Amino acid sequence: MEVYVTREIPVIAEILLKKKRIKAIVFRKDNPIPKNTLIRNIRNADGLISLLSDKIDRDVIDAMPKCRIIANYAVGYNNIDIDYAKSKGIIVTNTPDVLTDSTAEITLALTLACLRRLPEGQEMMINNKFKGWGPKLLLGLELSGKYFGIIGAGRIGTAAAIRAKAFGTKILYCSNHKNKFLESVTGAKKVTLSRLLALSDVISLHLPLTPESFHLLNKGNLHLLKPTAILINTARGEIVDEKELIKILKNNKIFAAGFDVYENEPNINPELLKLKNVVLLPHIGSGTFEARDKMAELAAQNVIAVLYGSKAITPV
Ligand code: DGY
Repeated sequence: MEVYVTREIPVIAEILLKKKRIKAIVFRKDNPIPKNTLIRNIRNADGLISLLSDKIDRDVIDAMPKCRIIANYAVGYNNIDIDYAKSKGIIVTNTPDVLTDSTAEITLALTLACLRRLPEGQEMMINNKFKGWGPKLLLGLELSGKYFGIIGAGRIGTAAAIRAKAFGTKILYCSNHKNKFLESVTGAKKVTLSRLLALSDVISLHLPLTPESFHLLNKGNLHLLKPTAILINTARGEIVDEKELIKILKNNKIFAAGFDVYENEPNINPELLKLKNVVLLPHIGSGTFEARDKMAELAAQNVIAVLYGSKAITPV
């Protein structure tokens, strides 16, 4: 059996596949695989391990007549035409849980970096502009005592909220479902989206990109944010109308925003690069050795399970 892997991922995946006599063919270049190369290479694939940067659309799915599983090396799977894959009898899996801690940690890292203006401090040091301690030097905001609002209260949102709680915040959440665990552990209160936006000091996004969540934050509601609020996005760029957010940041209508994801990734709106009140990361929410190893292992185990006739471990 043969599995095509669209980029080099931690070696554990290849080791596990090999043990089960599944041949892994890996696109070993350090750039996303071009669509035509992918299509050329997957004719014999019984399975595909894809990345969130690979658009797995009808053309790609049609190019793998033998394929039984698409194992996405990510928890998000908006890059895959799920309905079409299902119509072809292909199982799609993702990598939930294993990247929850790393993504929750980067949420807090972005939060603190925004509130305490860490990039501005670093820039000052690098440019040799630090002339000594100053009573008004780079004043920021404390997290302690603030309202931390999460939009989407699944695994990652809950993990971020628990960490934020440890900083002395009060948790608000907005979700389609009541999360009793989150409420009992953090005392979180469920509120509507508008109330969350108007009350929170930190607004953090933790929901998947779907047609319903596309531009969930937009011109019609971004104006509700407090002037001292910060917005953190470690989910998907398209959930926020980025042009509207940039306008608000340019006019200092909010304190700052922390981005790990962008609306037109990997292309970054040049206006963002001119702003001081942003912290910009290159989509590294799950970028820890621990998480990436476990993601590779889980993707491989999903492939093995399906190709050997068992149920997928984490189907979507
Ligand atoms: C995911 O898994 O969806 C993340 O965005 C990767 O960091």
